[in-house]
Amino acid sequence: MTAGHPAAVGEGRLDRWLEQLASFNADAASGGVTREVYGPEYRAACGYVAGLMEEAGLDVREDSFGNLYGSWEGSDPDASRVLTGSHFDTTLNAGKYDGSLGVLGAIDAVSRLRAANLAPRRGIDVVAFAGEEPRFGLGCIGSRAAVGELTREDLDRLCDRNGVSLASALRGAGLDPDRLAEAELEAGRHGAFVELHIEQGATLETAGVAVGVVTHIAAPHDVRVTLCGAAMHAGATPMRLRHDALAGAAEAMVELERLAATSASGTTVATVGVLRARPGAINVIPGEVEMDVDVRDSDEAVRTQVVEDFLAETAAIAARRGLALAHELIARHAPAACDPPIVDAARRACADLGIEYLELASGAYHDAMVLSSRMPMGMIFVPSAGGISHSPLEYTDPGDMSRGVAVLARALAHLAA
Ligand code: GLV
Ligand code: MN
Ligand code: MN
Repeated sequence: MTAGHPAAVGEGRLDRWLEQLASFNADAASGGVTREVYGPEYRAACGYVAGLMEEAGLDVREDSFGNLYGSWEGSDPDASRVLTGSHFDTTLNAGKYDGSLGVLGAIDAVSRLRAANLAPRRGIDVVAFAGEEPRFGLGCIGSRAAVGELTREDLDRLCDRNGVSLASALRGAGLDPDRLAEAELEAGRHGAFVELHIEQGATLETAGVAVGVVTHIAAPHDVRVTLCGAAMHAGATPMRLRHDALAGAAEAMVELERLAATSASGTTVATVGVLRARPGAINVIPGEVEMDVDVRDSDEAVRTQVVEDFLAETAAIAARRGLALAHELIARHAPAACDPPIVDAARRACADLGIEYLELASGAYHDAMVLSSRMPMGMIFVPSAGGISHSPLEYTDPGDMSRGVAVLARALAHLAA
């Protein structure tokens, strides 16, 4: 197998593709990019990305869940294939790079390899997974469908913030929820998954290093906590007679922050990203509050301890304030270790290209985390300016992106050999 050094091939095209993809935007007025999975802008963007895959010489197919694949055949049809890609849906008012870099960068990497006349032994598939961001409360739905982790009942149960079920969003996108099982990847078909992604933190920037080789992915344990008190008159109810669910939630949130900051691993993070206070009127004491709590760590035992301590502390707060407490599991995923041979392929790629790299853990979750139950996986990171992500201010230097793509291409060449 030979791989040349087409350093200048396609110079600048990745930046152009990222700009064009960002124009598929449901809320340009916000200043950021909003492209939630299965929405009209997302579906239009699928056409754009499929076109890029075709231009790169890939055979394109969309599965029954809306995951897009572009395939390049290897010389050995019996060998397991190499999968690379990410997602291009976004959270609300987001940036241009999260996920999109991994999809467009994979297309760019494969184009570079084809231009260098690489003849891979293993086939290489580029994938854009539908719905890595949690529009329906649960992240990575496309990759979960691909590993058979979603049930048909989940599609009716999971709803977005407007009450639209995942099943009806699929139908609205021209897909058929009853064909969910067809999206599952054939067991053994892929022997490796590599995902290029922006770091979304500031470790690489702080170290002044352009490429990160990921060793572990921290995973979330998410719970929905509901506190019920009494919705009474905000003017006429003395303080001592109140059962204010939001004040109880505030106390619980401060406790959560303390527990994460002092956890045994020192790497736990915890967030309440969604808080629903009802009835939501300035002159009514909040009678009911729902909070969605996200706790993450790459140390699962410590993460479990933090969640358990938080629920125990919240129960004590609720009892003291005369509030009823209920909680349910939203999602709980095991932290994933990257596969040593894939980590090694990324390290070797950096060494081949003379690019300095840093080994680090991912605090964000990724489709790679979900795929780890089905195939060995690894990730390559490039720096996020200021560590900012999930924000219109998200930015990665084009030179760093190009280095990340070069490392991805080289790692794919090693893995497909
Ligand atoms: C992915 O977007 C995450 O929340 O980690
Ligand atoms: Mn994201
Ligand atoms: Mn992402």
